[in-house]
Amino acid sequence: MENKGRILIVEDEKSMREVLKILLEDEGYEIISASDGQDGIKRIEEDIFDIVITDIKMPGAGGFEVLKKVKEISPTSIVIMITAFGTIESTIEAMKLGAYDYIHKPFKIDEIRLIINKAVEKKRLSEEISVLREKVQTTCRIENIIGKSPRMQELFRLIPKVAQSSSTVLITGESGCGKELVAAALHNLSTRKNNNFVTINCATFPGGLLETELFGHIKGSFTGAVRNKEGLFEIADNGTILLDEIAEMPLSLQPKLLRVLENGIFRRVGGVADITVNVRVLAATNRNLADAIAEGSFREDLFYRLNVIPLHMPPLRERPEDIPLLLDHFFHKFSGGSKKLSPNALRIFMKHHWKGNVRELENMVERVVLLTEGTIILPEDLPEEFFLVASKGTGLPDVDEEGVDLEKIIEGIEKDYLLKALARSNGSKTDAAKLLNLTFRSFRHRLYKFGIK
Ligand SMILES: Nc1ncnc2c1ncn2[C@@H]1O[C@H](COP(=O)(O)OP(=O)(O)OP(=O)(O)O)[C@@H](O)[C@H]1O
Ligand SMILES: [Mg+2]
Repeated sequence: MENKGRILIVEDEKSMREVLKILLEDEGYEIISASDGQDGIKRIEEDIFDIVITDIKMPGAGGFEVLKKVKEISPTSIVIMITAFGTIESTIEAMKLGAYDYIHKPFKIDEIRLIINKAVEKKRLSEEISVLREKVQTTCRIENIIGKSPRMQELFRLIPKVAQSSSTVLITGESGCGKELVAAALHNLSTRKNNNFVTINCATFPGGLLETELFGHIKGSFTGAVRNKEGLFEIADNGTILLDEIAEMPLSLQPKLLRVLENGIFRRVGGVADITVNVRVLAATNRNLADAIAEGSFREDLFYRLNVIPLHMPPLRERPEDIPLLLDHFFHKFSGGSKKLSPNALRIFMKHHWKGNVRELENMVERVVLLTEGTIILPEDLPEEFFLVASKGTGLPDVDEEGVDLEKIIEGIEKDYLLKALARSNGSKTDAAKLLNLTFRSFRHRLYKFGIK
């Protein structure tokens, strides 16, 4: 017979215990009984029950103590109180404390059956709901990418599909919004995942060096080439290569890249042999390649060859729903989840411009976790630049029902202007003061106030 659930009966009257046991075993439940409150509490501490049925009045620990123990250590278990006539007040009290229902002594068998079956059904439903909730949560992340906004969800839908193909992908989006994470996910979810994933930032190598990095060189091909060197395209054979900041690739190198994209063939620097590889190419940029094409610094044919599958990462400010989720993640990472933002500090985060996107958010969490002693981070714990940037990109914040910190905003603006004037005057305080229509003394005082050297 199927086991419909585990029930603990806590009842000091032996005959009652036995009647309940026979009745409920007959219904298909597994029954464990305890002969008083103390015994019941001990079992609750050691075991897990779907339902606990407890008498209210017992010598020693009573039903209330049993109820409290269940709420404390096993809050998903359902508690049903057994009440005698004349204890209506304590029954109400028990319901307030979280008892699910009660049965009267002496019992009516049908009533008990009904109550227990209903309770079990309720428990099963609530378990299903929490499983569903977990399922929703797990789709809020693919590999290491977190997000629940519709645009991220769309991306999560696309990434596994795109990972199955070998077409070139162009990942675009502002700095810090997760382009590298997407590239890594595309590799890790592909059949190439056991081969190399290599990343190169095209902006960090001067032209000639970038070519040898990508394609390798032959010993003696230039001064310093003392031995043959494999390029990243060879290292990434059967794997994936990410060409980051692709807009910075020198025009002179672009035809060579075009060739390897078209047929997988290239030559090492100084070499004459054609080398054939099977590499999936991903490219990323935070620049608008159309501008680079218009400027003449990027080949249009290369752009089309790279842009076979375009993936655009939306900036964080366009998906504020993702912010609480990311905060959870980073607070966990940096404080083990022991610290969190106060509701007002969270509102400030939600409205922030996040020019540096998720990277900026991550750095900010790391910083406030380090600098704040308490477990709750308040608006005044946030660094000044935070307000400075907030007053820049998005315009000044609105005054809504939770209000703003005027002093902090004004200080932010003030500091911003002091720095701007100093920059324009090449560090001359006298000139900077003039630019701001301030006396030298007043200017110097303000620098001192903000600790600007
Ligand atoms: N959706 C996200 N979920 C979790 N972490 C993220 C997410 N997006 C970005 N990050 C984190 O933010 C940081 C920056 O991400 P990444 O390096 O992928 O940005 P990027 O778009 O390549 O930026 P850049 O253009 O400056 O190179 C990384 O530490 C990354 O782990
Ligand atoms: Mg990057």
